[in-house]
Amino acid sequence: MTFPKGFLWGGATAANQLEGAYDVDGKGLSVADAMPGGKIRWGVLSSEDFDWSIDASKYVYPNHKGIDHYHRFKEDIALFAKMGFKCYRFSIAWTRIFPQGDELEPNEAGLAFYDNLIDECLKYGIEPVITISHYEMPLHLAKAYGGWKNRKLVGFYENFAKAVLTHFHQKVTYWMTFNEINSAFAMPALSQGMVGATGATDKQNVFQAWHHQFLASSLAVKIGHDLNPDLKIGCMIIYATTYSFDANPINQLATLQYNQAFNYFCADVQVRGEYPAYTDRLLKENGVQPLEMDEGDLALLKAYPVDYIGFSYYMSGVQNVTAEDSETVEGNILGGVKNPFLEASDWGWQIDPTGLRLALNDLYGRYQVPLFIVENGLGAYDTVEPDGSINDDYRIDYLAKHITAMGAAIEDGVDLIGYTPWGCIDLVSASTGEMSKRYGFIHVDLDDQIEGTGERRPKKSFKWYQKVIASNGEDL
Ligand code: BG6
Repeated sequence: MTFPKGFLWGGATAANQLEGAYDVDGKGLSVADAMPGGKIRWGVLSSEDFDWSIDASKYVYPNHKGIDHYHRFKEDIALFAKMGFKCYRFSIAWTRIFPQGDELEPNEAGLAFYDNLIDECLKYGIEPVITISHYEMPLHLAKAYGGWKNRKLVGFYENFAKAVLTHFHQKVTYWMTFNEINSAFAMPALSQGMVGATGATDKQNVFQAWHHQFLASSLAVKIGHDLNPDLKIGCMIIYATTYSFDANPINQLATLQYNQAFNYFCADVQVRGEYPAYTDRLLKENGVQPLEMDEGDLALLKAYPVDYIGFSYYMSGVQNVTAEDSETVEGNILGGVKNPFLEASDWGWQIDPTGLRLALNDLYGRYQVPLFIVENGLGAYDTVEPDGSINDDYRIDYLAKHITAMGAAIEDGVDLIGYTPWGCIDLVSASTGEMSKRYGFIHVDLDDQIEGTGERRPKKSFKWYQKVIASNGEDL
């Protein structure tokens, strides 16, 4: 199996899930800071009277402390370097730079933190890969403006993107505009800053918010390319290979339409620079009136598409609209019909390496732009043995099979530039707010209440991944 020379092996995280220090050095509150830990979080957010208030007497807020990466990043980057990382994907907390989101001037202390973090990466020859907005918009923009359904957000994001691109473009080549932009139906609070009480269940708002995010994404591409045309600015989608349950043409059609709605819609706009042909049907199906657009919007989208596609891949799904009795599984966003050919993780996510090969071929065939797998991995319970070791063979097995599928897709002709497994160091889960759902090569001694020593300890997979990188994917 031959991975290209210069292939970007690394790992991925997001600020709100690991930095902690949620109110330090001028940082404002983000939507993620208002999310309670534990499976309870979605119930709380979707209740009609949830007003984004933070009640520490009632709930634990794990993101507030995270794994304290804010103070321990040097130790963490040193461990990434030891594994041989060529790149590190992280996000910039919008609220460290613009604490409320609508200020005009950036917070210098926030910029200084990321200067230090980036310099630490560069010291080891690790290429930073930055998500501009990863599920952590300022809470003030959600509360005072109603989130992304409000067009004013475009301007606030533009200021933020301009501040960070201008400040860091000489040190950072790879950027992504929004994490998992197509997750809005399932995660409106994190993705678009909207909850039940502010219209998250009204699809008109979700699509209008998307339109604003597409404009914001194009503006970021424009700003970045004006600074340096060689910057690589990508979109970031969650991709789920989706199978028809059977050969029934009705299920096949449902699968196509699911792909259009979930896997393609956002990428079609961000990569091709135009709304796809099926847009009117999709809007109608969702009871959405034509979107509000200003003159010049469509020209902006057309002029500034993204340079590459970053995507997350964890699992595949099945479409079955004809049978009523199919077994179901869980998943952060996907859930749905059980696939009898696949095993599932402890959280019910169906494990499907071949689905990744299909995903790579599908995306590359459709868009012909470079692909970057910026999230993949297995959330699992880990056990620390009495001798301190953590033998996560299940994680090694998952990753090895997915890397094999990547190699096969490269041989299929796909232009894949890198791979950053999710949560390369244990961090707070986005969907459940748990620490015990672990993805890392590095164990962090903290429980779901964020109690513990915080000590970092390499798992068995740490040495394994080190070997994978050193052999450029040959030695699995
Ligand atoms: C993706 C997100 O959905 O999956 C990450 O971009 C998230 O933020 C990751 O953490 C894994 O999901 P979870 O719910 O297991 O943390």
